[in-house]
Amino acid sequence: MSFSIIVAVAENYAIGANNDLLWYIPEDLKRFKKITTGNTIIMGKKTFESLPNGPLPNRRNIVISDIKNDCVEGCIVVDSIQNAIEACKPNEENFIIGGGSIYKQFLDIADKIYLTKVHRNYDADVFFPKIDFNNWITTFKESHKENNPPYTYLILNRKK
Ligand SMILES: NC(=O)c1ccc[n+]([C@@H]2O[C@H](COP(=O)([O-])OP(=O)(O)OC[C@H]3O[C@@H](n4cnc5c(N)ncnc54)[C@H](OP(=O)(O)O)[C@@H]3O)[C@@H](O)[C@H]2O)c1
Repeated sequence: MSFSIIVAVAENYAIGANNDLLWYIPEDLKRFKKITTGNTIIMGKKTFESLPNGPLPNRRNIVISDIKNDCVEGCIVVDSIQNAIEACKPNEENFIIGGGSIYKQFLDIADKIYLTKVHRNYDADVFFPKIDFNNWITTFKESHKENNPPYTYLILNRKK
C-alpha cells in the first residue's frame, strides 16, 4: 500500500484560512485533477466541506470524521486514520489531499509528496507540518516564476 501526499504550501507553510485555499492557481488545480483522477483520495471532514460541488468525480473519496456512521453521498466515511488506511487499495497509489490535521497524521506514513511550493507568505489558520528534507529526495522540480504568485512543483520521495 502506498500513500502520497498532494499539497500546495506557502513559504511559511500556510495552506488554508477560513476553510478555503489561500491562492488560485488554475494550472495547479488541473495538475491535481490529472494526478488524482482514477485513484483513491483521502481527506478530513473540513476539506470535504470546502469542496464546492461535493465529492470529487472519478475518484474514490474517503472522508475521515469522528462522527460515527456519518453518511455522505458518494463518499466512504471512516472514523479513524486506521480505518482510512484499511479502506485504501493495496498495490495502488492512495492520495492524501488534506487538510492540515490529516497531513499531520499522514506525514510519517507517506512515501511520496507532490509538493507545490508557493513562493509567498500568507496569513492563515491552517499550516502544513514542517518537512524534514533530510528524510526526502527531490526527484522532480519545475519552476513557474512567471506566475503570480510564482510557484515550484516538487516531487519528494522518502529516503529508504
Ligand atoms: N493548500 C492545500 O493544498 C490544501 C489542501 C487541502 C486542504 N487545504 C485547507 O486546509 C484547511 C482544512 O484543514 P483542517 O486541518 O482545518 O481540516 P481537515 O483536516 O480537512 O478536517 C478536519 C476534520 O477531520 C476529521 N478528523 C481528523 N483527524 C481525524 C481522526 N484521526 N479521526 C477521526 N476524524 C478525524 C474531524 O472531523 P469531524 O469534525 O467531523 O469529527 C476533523 O474536524 C482548509 O483551509 C483547506 O482549504 C489546503
